[in-house]
Amino acid sequence: MAWEYSDKTMQLFTDAVHGKPGTHLGEITDPDGLGEHGSIACGDALRFTFRVRRDPTDPLRDEIIEAKYLTFGCTSAIAASEALCCMIEAEHLTPINALAITNQDIVNFLDGLPEQKIHCSVMGAEALQAAVFNWAQKRGVNLNALGIDIHTEEQEEGRVVCKCFTLTEPYIKRKIKELNLHSIAEITGAIKAGGACMTCHHAPGGLQDLLNEVWGAEKKTAYSLALPIISGNLTTPLSKSSAEVVDSAKLSPFQFAKKIEKLLDEYLRPMVQKDGGDLELIDIKETTVYIELRGTCAGCAGASQTLKYLVERTLKEQIDERIRVIQV
Ligand code: FES
Repeated sequence: MAWEYSDKTMQLFTDAVHGKPGTHLGEITDPDGLGEHGSIACGDALRFTFRVRRDPTDPLRDEIIEAKYLTFGCTSAIAASEALCCMIEAEHLTPINALAITNQDIVNFLDGLPEQKIHCSVMGAEALQAAVFNWAQKRGVNLNALGIDIHTEEQEEGRVVCKCFTLTEPYIKRKIKELNLHSIAEITGAIKAGGACMTCHHAPGGLQDLLNEVWGAEKKTAYSLALPIISGNLTTPLSKSSAEVVDSAKLSPFQFAKKIEKLLDEYLRPMVQKDGGDLELIDIKETTVYIELRGTCAGCAGASQTLKYLVERTLKEQIDERIRVIQV
């Protein structure tokens, strides 16, 4: 999928990757503040560093004179990091004043970002906070005494809700509140949680439950992960012991294909469509199933995980252990 980026985003990205003078791709040696956010394993990571002009008597008057970043990510990750550095340097901000920069400020500076790329701006704001926390430790500034509560990763250890991106309950809940997120799609766009295999969407204690807890909605008692019987009553949950599970080795190729089509149509496709994606069955050769991902799934960094952990696993569990899914 081709993302619709603003001219400003494209300009910042192009200037940065060409190393145009005045851009900020790189790392400051021995920085006064260093903060990181994200992880390479999850497809996006940012290392943000800054240098200050130290005030000889009052660290609160330190002024950021240089900012740089290293990022592993897409066009928007680079452009958002550039935007952050530009804003900080242009305003001659102190580290404390820099904390006022929000992810929305970064989005505004870029003249907007696609909804699915908002997490790049969040990553910038989080890395900035971590860098200011690091500066405060080095300069002996007590942030708590100033009424500033920076949530470092260490402070947010807790139950991991989204295993694909190793995101914990305290972190996700905080971002739901801070960023006013009201749907799973918004959570995925902002912090990537739920953007790969999707099993954390409606599992007990998953993203929908966290949304309900934060916004006070009624807790749902039934979870959509209970699969329907694909050859029978669609409302009946399926278990491995169900007599409805047919020995697939006895199926003709036509029957085998029909079962796969039915499971895709009645369970898997509606599930990914809820998040703006789609699946297209392209071909079946023996037990190898060829599937094309469309919609938001097509450009998603977690597409391969969606296929492996959602589609392939479901087909294996419900039809035949030998099934292998290939993305085309
Ligand atoms: S566990 Fe959250 S996307 Fe896989």
